[in-house]
Amino acid sequence: MDARQLKIAAAQAALEHVEDGMRLGIGTGSTADEFVRLLAEKVADGFKIQGVPTSERTARLCMELGVPLYSLDDLPELDLTIDGADEVDGALRLIKGGGGALLREKIVASASSRMIVIADESKLVDMLGRFPLPIEVAQFGVAATRIAVERLASRLGLSGEIALRLEKDGAYLTDGNHFILDASFGRIPDAEALANGLAAIAGVVEHGLFLNMANAAIIASQNGARTLLA
Ligand code: A5P
Repeated sequence: MDARQLKIAAAQAALEHVEDGMRLGIGTGSTADEFVRLLAEKVADGFKIQGVPTSERTARLCMELGVPLYSLDDLPELDLTIDGADEVDGALRLIKGGGGALLREKIVASASSRMIVIADESKLVDMLGRFPLPIEVAQFGVAATRIAVERLASRLGLSGEIALRLEKDGAYLTDGNHFILDASFGRIPDAEALANGLAAIAGVVEHGLFLNMANAAIIASQNGARTLLA
């Protein structure tokens, strides 16, 4: 199986957890896109769900494919969220936000009774941190916020570049009109301390550490899809 087929395999396995009538959080990224495509086929066959997208990108794909969407304000309590991840460790701690949707992803996952992560085995790590940690920050005072993040990292014994995410026309902007700092800390031995420290910094809107959120991770490999439970 190539990389795309692995994503489809994880998405297919996740679809088995989606029941008729569910209020469903729908994630963002290339793996979540495969889930949306499969979900759309079921919806076309008469399966009923109420979807809440985690990004404008996912909303567009759902609308193109006929997946019924609601806002989180219409449906503030969800049964299940299915989403991808940039990294998953053995305790189902995650790094998310490579696609820039971490804020809505975390809000939607937090509003859900359950969260299932879908990923190929390249995302599974023994310790978080190989993937640069996305930190969503207010545009105002971004230089000061970056210094505060550097000081926190130094207190926690972490080091590495903290880079403003760019795209071709300048700084990348999230759906909420914020910047993203990508922090290449390397291995993060105490993700909880880093998460707490980041949450306490004034300019940090949200960070990509998703701790105690995923209930299960479906990991696809050449040997098939296996489920890790929290
Ligand atoms: C989006 O902001 C991210 O959290 C994605 O869930 C994550 O980047 C995984 O994306 P892929 O499925 O494209 O690897």
